[in-house]
Amino acid sequence: MINRRGTLCAGRWTIVVVVLLLGSFITFDSYTYRLLSTLSQSPVSLAFLTTSSSYHSDSKELQSSNASSPENVNESNPHRLQPQVAARNSNRGDPQNVNGSEQDNLKENDEKAELSQLQLTSTRRVELDLWQARAALKRIALEDNDERGEENEQLSNGDPHGKAYRNAALFRQSYMEMEDRFKIYIYQEGEEPLVHDGPCKEIYAVEGRFIQELQDRNPFVTSDPEEAHVFFLPFSVAMMVTYLYTQNSGDMSPLLKFVQDYVHLISHKYPYWNKSEGADHFMLSCHDWGPYVTRVDNNLYSKSIRVLCNANTSEGFIPYKDASLPEINLVGGEVPTVLGGFPVAARKYLAFFAGADHGPVRPYVFKHWEGKNTNVVVHRRVPVAAGLTYHEYMKSSKFCLCPGGYEVNSPRLVEAIYNDCIPVIIADKFVLPFSDVLDWSRFSLQILEADIPKLKEILEAVSEETLIELQNRVKQVRKHFLLNKPPERYDVFHMILHSVWLRRLNIRLLR
Ligand SMILES: *[C@@H]1O[C@H](CO)[C@@H](O)[C@H](O)[C@H]1NC(C)=O
Ligand SMILES: *[C@@H]1O[C@H](CO)[C@@H](O)[C@H](O)[C@H]1NC(C)=O
Ligand SMILES: *[C@@H]1O[C@H](CO)[C@@H](O)[C@H](O)[C@H]1NC(C)=O
Ligand SMILES: *[C@@H]1O[C@H](CO)[C@@H](O)[C@H](O)[C@H]1NC(C)=O
Ligand SMILES: *[C@@H]1O[C@H](CO)[C@@H](O)[C@H](O)[C@H]1NC(C)=O
Repeated sequence: MINRRGTLCAGRWTIVVVVLLLGSFITFDSYTYRLLSTLSQSPVSLAFLTTSSSYHSDSKELQSSNASSPENVNESNPHRLQPQVAARNSNRGDPQNVNGSEQDNLKENDEKAELSQLQLTSTRRVELDLWQARAALKRIALEDNDERGEENEQLSNGDPHGKAYRNAALFRQSYMEMEDRFKIYIYQEGEEPLVHDGPCKEIYAVEGRFIQELQDRNPFVTSDPEEAHVFFLPFSVAMMVTYLYTQNSGDMSPLLKFVQDYVHLISHKYPYWNKSEGADHFMLSCHDWGPYVTRVDNNLYSKSIRVLCNANTSEGFIPYKDASLPEINLVGGEVPTVLGGFPVAARKYLAFFAGADHGPVRPYVFKHWEGKNTNVVVHRRVPVAAGLTYHEYMKSSKFCLCPGGYEVNSPRLVEAIYNDCIPVIIADKFVLPFSDVLDWSRFSLQILEADIPKLKEILEAVSEETLIELQNRVKQVRKHFLLNKPPERYDVFHMILHSVWLRRLNIRLLR
């Protein structure tokens, strides 16, 4: 028996994220397809929830078909609930692949699938559930829920609100649907330490904390795979590196073999993997090698939901299918206890960075800024002269530089947020965590690697008023990046779940 008690992980967590890409996965909702194909053809796709004439006809159809009522599902769109069809077409991913003739084929296939309907009742139930959630979100999307201008008026229950979000009303609804419906099945195969466990300290902590938290009698978890919307592969790449990798050997084959064997095991022992070719399965890793090990299985790599800290679109990370995981450095396993910091006006330094010189970006940061300017504090080690600690520097700086390291991601992003310091992200191909719901441009700066020489100019050009707004929103989103034990609503644990939920739903909430 596996001990699931997560004894290594005491203390509190936090995290954040954004973006609403609701994935296509194994459902077949013709409305969703129209939605997605409209999106993919249109250069203004991010605005699809606002008014656009091509969109309107869809909206009317949606309303008149009374989409919210499941009773109408059979008549209006029987194939929505056909999992077999969905499974065969689950090399979905790219919604552009869907066109009219394919949909006609689906109808025929649906009729065949109808025959085996009796065996499929649980799958139908799961798909109906998702369909209802989508319908609820579409209703919200059609409402005028423009919350702009209400910046400082927080909702009394602490729910997301305001400009830090792409669409706060949609996010609230989507989160609520998740709380009401979402069910996750965790494969029991495998043993600790490689499976069912993970690091809870230092830079890969979020990997172990998530794996352990989910297994700790979490209410989203079901022991009945028939009612699950997604299936979790609870292996830890960081643990594989600790136990299977020979230091400095450069030989990653034992890790690849392990992952391959694991997928082989679950795909032969259970029917669920084959049904969707892995599209409703997810894995999670904060280790730099997380993306690499998934390449060993083509479906795991190209169809499953991969939740990764190393979210580099140049290395196969697909934003609508995969989810970006924030890296949180838990020094000694503890979340920093002193959060927040001074208001911007009281911050002595313009910008701060201290860290090692590695990866492709930092050499340029050092070349242009190391020790050059008393207002832009850039050093390999925390300077001792001022007598400030690393976190005190962050609390005393308006901006905190977050250049990528060996990989695109850096724990500085979350550290900056913890210290009310406006993050300056310098990592061109990085997909920011939770960017399907969070509007990062409202509480951070993204600077091109090529603009590193102009860094000071760019930062100095930000007005005092904008600085205050940016910092206020940094405070607002902090809760999304906190690791709590037990997890709390909207904290990093739930934001990760929400990212997976959106991808399983396969709808975009962007505006
Ligand atoms: C939608 O369905 C509900 C419940 O079945 C019904 O009360 C309502 O009148 C319907 N609306 C439309 C526009 O058909
Ligand atoms: C949907 O159709 C099936 C058979 O095709 C039927 O058994 C079921 O009762 C219908 N559901 C609703 C809500 O009408
Ligand atoms: C639509 O799909 C069919 C079947 O997959 C394919 O043969 C056809 O070329 C596609 N048409 C377009 C315009 O992509
Ligand atoms: C899943 O598919 C693989 C390869 O096609 C097959 O070998 C395996 O038996 C299937 N699993 C189940 C449970 O049917
Ligand atoms: C992202 O991936 C590309 C391709 O491997 C690589 O060249 C680039 O350096 C990566 N970015 C960072 C910041 O690591």
